[in-house]
Amino acid sequence: MKQFLSVNDVKNVKTLILKAIKLKKNPFFYKKNKTIGLVFFNPSLRTRISSQKAAFNLGCKTWILNINSDSWKIETSDGSVMNSTQEHLKEAIGVMSLYCDLLAVRTFPGLLEKEYDYKEILLKKIIKYSKVPVVNLESATLHPLQSLADLITIEEFKTQTQTKKTLKIVLSWAPHIKALPQSVPNSFIEWVKKIKDIKLYITNPDGYNLNSDFTFGIKLIPNQNEAFQNADFIYAKNWSSYENYGKIIFKDLSWTITKEKMQLTNKAKFMHCLPVRRNLVVEDSVLDNSIVLNQAENRIFATQIVFLEILENI
Ligand code: CP
Repeated sequence: MKQFLSVNDVKNVKTLILKAIKLKKNPFFYKKNKTIGLVFFNPSLRTRISSQKAAFNLGCKTWILNINSDSWKIETSDGSVMNSTQEHLKEAIGVMSLYCDLLAVRTFPGLLEKEYDYKEILLKKIIKYSKVPVVNLESATLHPLQSLADLITIEEFKTQTQTKKTLKIVLSWAPHIKALPQSVPNSFIEWVKKIKDIKLYITNPDGYNLNSDFTFGIKLIPNQNEAFQNADFIYAKNWSSYENYGKIIFKDLSWTITKEKMQLTNKAKFMHCLPVRRNLVVEDSVLDNSIVLNQAENRIFATQIVFLEILENI
């Protein structure tokens, strides 16, 4: 693997999932003795720590820079007179990439300009200025390491609980008080499409349809209760409107995931990428009987297999 920006950097998704599960059984087997730089333009708990743990398991060292709190104020636009910013992205990334063998970055969307976000302008500049391979730790429109961890988790739990040939997975919008990115659902859809024995459905309120570049070929069931019927996994996530870009147009708590709704399913496992707001996105009783911590744990092995595949290619 040369870089990891999206599912398109993976030759065979199922093979990568199985390699990660194997690595989980023997996490200290590979020793790479390299340095991994972790750069965060936005907050994080899981991505930050699971990336460090993944690096440590591989015998690598890490350094972390939180751009908004630890560094000079970074200018990202080209040609501007830098009266209010202190360092340009070009030098900042150029320098940081001299201090590591692999650069992993988090670059959330502004949720103001759809085209700017969906063209992944910031991530593309970082790739251009970096002298080493780049890993996407969640960009404006994608969160591929989360999706890989989610598919590892589904693979582990389906073998314990499912006997059916095809799994029914429902990606459900859930309410939230803040405008959140579309990166987790976008990525989840594009990764799940690579797995033959999964049938994915999406349920969301009017005005919350995701970008059709991702959802083409996936059935939308507008009624959440109907969508939940006989599901094997429920993946809940809030996202802001794509149509009315970045806006919150609906906060109806009737879309919160409840115990009653979960009873419509085939004893489905509840999934969420975290962080999650209790009793807004999902009721306590559902979250307390979910596989969200398994997903979070698998962030380590998703990241570790990706770091390993890139480091083996350097
Ligand atoms: N799921 C996830 O990416 O969590 P963090 O934002 O805490 O890294």
